[in-house]
Amino acid sequence: MKKRELLNKKQGEFYNTKKKNLATRVWSYFRNGALNRIKKEIEVEKDIYALHVSWFGDLTEKKVLDLGCYAGNSLSMYLATHSRQYLGIDLSEKGIAGLSSRLKDIPNANAIVMDFLSDEFKEKDFDLIYAYGVLHHFKEVEELIEKLKEKTTSNGLIISHDPLQTSLSINILRRLYRPFQSDKEWEWPFRRATYYQFEKAFEIKERRGVLGKAKWSGFLNLLPISQNSKLGKAKEWHLQDWKISAESDEHMFSCMHLSMLMKKK
Ligand SMILES: C[S@@+](CC[C@H](N)C(=O)[O-])C[C@H]1O[C@@H](n2cnc3c(N)ncnc32)[C@H](O)[C@@H]1O
Repeated sequence: MKKRELLNKKQGEFYNTKKKNLATRVWSYFRNGALNRIKKEIEVEKDIYALHVSWFGDLTEKKVLDLGCYAGNSLSMYLATHSRQYLGIDLSEKGIAGLSSRLKDIPNANAIVMDFLSDEFKEKDFDLIYAYGVLHHFKEVEELIEKLKEKTTSNGLIISHDPLQTSLSINILRRLYRPFQSDKEWEWPFRRATYYQFEKAFEIKERRGVLGKAKWSGFLNLLPISQNSKLGKAKEWHLQDWKISAESDEHMFSCMHLSMLMKKK
C-alpha cells in the first residue's frame, strides 16, 4: 500500500471511531467546549452558514461536490436538495453510510467513500466544490490546488472553511499540543504561505476570518460587568473580525478560522 493510501486508511478509521488520545481530547474540550460556547453565544456559526448560503447563489443548475462531507454538516442537506446534482465524498465509511441514509429520498444526490486525490475518482465538471473543514487535511497544497482546478468547470467556485495557525497565541498553543495530537498526520491548519498559495492559484472573491479579537471573549468573564455587557462586547469583537478580515490580511491572520469564496482564474 502506498504511503498516502495508508494515511487515508488511518484517517478514515480515525473518523469512523473518533478515538482520541488525552492531548487531543483536551484540545477538543477547549475547542468544542469553551470556544464553541462563545461561538454559539455570539452566533459565529450562524453567520458563517448564512454567508456560505449567500455564496452558493442559485444552485438549480449546479453540479456540487461536498468534499470531505463526513455524515453531512448543516449545509450538506441544503446543497443536496437545492442543486441539480450533489455528490458527497469522504474517507470515512461510517460518515458516508450516515449521509447516504439521509440522502436516500433525494433525487440526484449521492455519497461515496472516495479519496479526492485518487485516480479512481473520475467525476469532474463541478460548478461548486464545498469543503467545510477539509482543505487543511491536505499536506501537499500544490497537489490539492491542481486537483481542485481539474475538478471544477471554467467558472467553478470553491467554498472553504479552515483553521488558521497564523496568530501568535494559537500558533504557540498548537505547537505545544502538536507532538501529542492523534490527528497530526492530516491536520495542517493554514499558515500565511498556505493562504498566499490559494490567493495565487484562484481569484479570492470574498473571505471572512472569525475569532480574531473575539477569541479573547472568554476573558470577559473575569471582569465585574453584567452578562449582557459581556455578550455585547463579544459580539462587537466578532463583527469587527468579520468586517476587517475581509480587507486586511493582518487582521485575517489574527483569526482562528477562515472562510473563502474562490473562483478558478
Ligand atoms: C473535519 S472533518 C469535516 C467533515 C464535514 N465537512 C463537516 O463539516 O462536518 C474533515 C473530513 O475530511 C475528510 N477527508 C480528508 N481528506 C480527504 C480526502 N483526501 N478525500 C476525501 N475526504 C477527505 C475526512 O475523512 C473528514 O471526514
